[in-house]
Amino acid sequence: MIIKRASEFKSSEITDKAVYLKRREFLKAAGIVSAGAAIPGLLAARVEAAAQKLQYIKNKKYLLDESLTPYQDVTTYNNFYEFGTGKADPARNATHFKTRPWTITVEGHARKTGTFDLDDIIKPHSLEERIYRLRCVEAWSMVIPWVGIPLADVVKRLQPTSKAKYVQFVTLHDPKQMPGQGGFLGGGLQWPYVEGLRMDEALNPLPLLAVGLYGEVLPNQNGAPVRLVVPWKYGFKSIKSIVKIRFVESQPPTTWNLAAPHEYGFYSNVNPEVDHPRWSQARERRLGDGSFFAPKRPTLMFNGYGEQVAHLYRGMDLKKYY
Ligand code: MTE
Repeated sequence: MIIKRASEFKSSEITDKAVYLKRREFLKAAGIVSAGAAIPGLLAARVEAAAQKLQYIKNKKYLLDESLTPYQDVTTYNNFYEFGTGKADPARNATHFKTRPWTITVEGHARKTGTFDLDDIIKPHSLEERIYRLRCVEAWSMVIPWVGIPLADVVKRLQPTSKAKYVQFVTLHDPKQMPGQGGFLGGGLQWPYVEGLRMDEALNPLPLLAVGLYGEVLPNQNGAPVRLVVPWKYGFKSIKSIVKIRFVESQPPTTWNLAAPHEYGFYSNVNPEVDHPRWSQARERRLGDGSFFAPKRPTLMFNGYGEQVAHLYRGMDLKKYY
């Protein structure tokens, strides 16, 4: 993954935390919503007012006392190689990406396999909002109010058998819609993009299958219509535009590990003590912190989620299993 040049960096204040919170406080004070529901007239003031609003409840267990990354940064500085390797490419090239109808095929060692409509996998009435940090391997990070449902709920509903030791995820393969899959634009990755989690990681309460952010349907460049968010792992584990979930017996291949095995391992837990071979992972730049030259902040072990996940790796050498 390539580090962005300073000249590409755009910091926008369009929807920073204050504006976001003020809007929600206003709606709450007006007794209009518990969360998420929207009034088109009020929100029309936003630049992105065309995005579809979601209904969800706020999960108070997953709040952060940190500024949210402005919507504009979250949606214009992306890694989605199917739409180009530049950070601004996905927002530009994914505008016409077709995200409905959308099905997810479930295969492998589970009692419930087959092809399901997305709305049957992620029932719209069960959505919740969780604010998570996402730390990318390129040493930038974001704080995003995601909307989705816990992956663990979906996995349990699909009833994996005892043979299922890992869960593999597969992104759509459609070079007609995804120009990066057709040639050099995609940085030479193997397609489709694949990722995986160990079964106990997938059953941990943290990973989300997200269908929205900032209370709205996920923008295409952020992985519409459904992507994974695994907040204690580097961003590339958070696979976008998922069409397949496979329950498998052995550790599945993952895209960045296939591309550069000595740089990207299967686990990819955020770990400030294990550097990427080409750069340090000790510190990070938070998008929206101001200028590209704003001071970096220390990266936290497991991205700050150690209490919830450290037990999964007890006894493992995290330098070896990077
Ligand atoms: N999923 C697919 N299918 N293709 C990708 O190129 N990039 C990954 C991950 N998921 C990627 C993907 C990387 S490297 C990161 S850092 C995050 O998506 C970025 O998510 P964001 O653009 O919403 O910030």
